[in-house]
Amino acid sequence: MKVRFLLNGDPVEADTAPTTTLLDWLRESRGLTGTKEGCNEGDCGACSVMLTDEDGARALNACILFMGQLDGHAVRTVEGLAAPDGTPHPVQQAMVDHHGSQCGFCTPGFVVTMATAHLNGATDHDDQLAGNLCRCTGYAPIIRAAKAAESLPIPDHMRDAPLPASSCAKYSGGPGAEPPAPSYADTPADWGGRDPLAGTGADDRGDATRTHAAYRPASTDELASLYLDHPDATLVAGATDVGLWVTKGLRDLGTAIFLNGVTDLQRIEESDGALRIGAGVTLTRLREVIAPRHPSFAEMLRRFGSTQVRNAGTIGGNIANGSPIGDGPPALIALGATLHLRRGNERREMPLEDFFIDYGKQDRQQGEFVEAVSIPDQPDRLSCQKLSKRFDQDISAVCGCFNVTTEGGTVTAARIAFGGMAGTPKRARQTEAALIGQPLTPEGVAAAQAALEQDFTPLSDMRASARYRLEVAKGMLLRLATADEPSVLEVRA
Ligand SMILES: Cc1cc2nc3c(=O)[nH]c(=O)nc-3n(C[C@H](O)[C@H](O)[C@H](O)COP(=O)(O)OP(=O)(O)OC[C@H]3O[C@@H](n4cnc5c(N)ncnc54)[C@H](O)[C@@H]3O)c2cc1C
Ligand code: FES
Ligand code: FES
Repeated sequence: MKVRFLLNGDPVEADTAPTTTLLDWLRESRGLTGTKEGCNEGDCGACSVMLTDEDGARALNACILFMGQLDGHAVRTVEGLAAPDGTPHPVQQAMVDHHGSQCGFCTPGFVVTMATAHLNGATDHDDQLAGNLCRCTGYAPIIRAAKAAESLPIPDHMRDAPLPASSCAKYSGGPGAEPPAPSYADTPADWGGRDPLAGTGADDRGDATRTHAAYRPASTDELASLYLDHPDATLVAGATDVGLWVTKGLRDLGTAIFLNGVTDLQRIEESDGALRIGAGVTLTRLREVIAPRHPSFAEMLRRFGSTQVRNAGTIGGNIANGSPIGDGPPALIALGATLHLRRGNERREMPLEDFFIDYGKQDRQQGEFVEAVSIPDQPDRLSCQKLSKRFDQDISAVCGCFNVTTEGGTVTAARIAFGGMAGTPKRARQTEAALIGQPLTPEGVAAAQAALEQDFTPLSDMRASARYRLEVAKGMLLRLATADEPSVLEVRA
């Protein structure tokens, strides 16, 4: 597959497997070893790069970013931060001035994320840097450096412009058109002379003879037609799950369909009394658009992965993966969201809770994809509570979302959903029934707390025991009923 993009300001054409990660390509094909490999699963930020497209610049983790996602974009690595005359970028100089680096392993990732925030004028440094881990310096000097650089001018060379869309190598066949021939042959030459069998593992790079197809449709119509023709293909949206199948699961994705060129899947529309959010909308954009409507949902999304993960991950991927611990579905179910599915030219919709049938099983047919999710307009009553071992960048042990209406202090309507309490994200119907008609007080929620045991039989796993999960869910209900407004941003002993 030929991928054209700007790398540190210069146009490049990479002839590579579509599921080669940008991190591997930078380090092994380009010798750009400033971008580090720490965890190789999106957790540490050592591999952070800046990507610019029509929507602007954002920090992403190169370890779970596939080359097939890059066509037409601009990428800037740590090697591209200093000015052409060698003058350090303001955040690099500030890191020196404020002693922000010790062993230095994390530093390239930090400065790339900081430079991206600097370019975007973002000053919420704790949030911006929550996806960058440092084991030795400590965060205070790094945050001091970020603050010190805030008001310094943005160097001109940082303002990348993506390549014109017309130069992108896209599959552009409409419905019924023949897809192009498989677009790459994974040969040793593709790996810059590296022996593919001596690579990082027996992954899809290990078979030098295998040929895969990769497609990048440009519209939902093209996607619908293509997926019907290739129902076994792997849809790749933000790759924050799929990336790990490759880097950690060493899985061969077979035919891949990249969704990031499907611009109409990224639309957000207000119509018919609902907010319709395209499946390709990133969690960063969702957080922005939902904040004025349901601030508690937006606060919870602040704790969804990290800046880099939210900049890549989509709400469609968060629903379609069917994860029992995904953070989007409980909030959306509590809001009464409708899921919109499409297969070829056929469309259907359902309440989101009905999509999740069982662990690993969703109501989705071969060749069918998630097109959008819509949230009915309503007064904001939503309260989201996420419990995880680490405040930032951690998967929920339990996520509870409560959409409860009271009149004169008595509960008149309730939609409650949990993640982490069953094999799927699940609505708590018995709990809802036990709550209605009761005062929203610690005494009034007692019956609903007991009903949680009828709704859920949680599992024990590395995140939490079954008993703890039930206690946590009961505690969340109690917290809802206490006088002070619960906030997921509050940390209390
Ligand atoms: C470091 C890290 C932290 C994370 N933290 C959190 C967290 O706090 N909370 C949380 O909920 N999740 C978290 N995740 C998981 C992940 O980020 C989310 O589930 C994300 O929303 C997945 O979206 P994506 O676009 O990256 O999906 P992808 O990885 O591209 O795809 C995921 C699955 O959905 C399918 N798919 C994608 N789009 C569609 C579509 N439109 N129609 C049908 N199928 C589709 C894919 O084929 C695949 O099976 C984290 C992941 C990482 C790596
Ligand atoms: S190497 Fe850790 S996030 Fe990429
Ligand atoms: S300086 Fe050593 S890990 Fe951050």
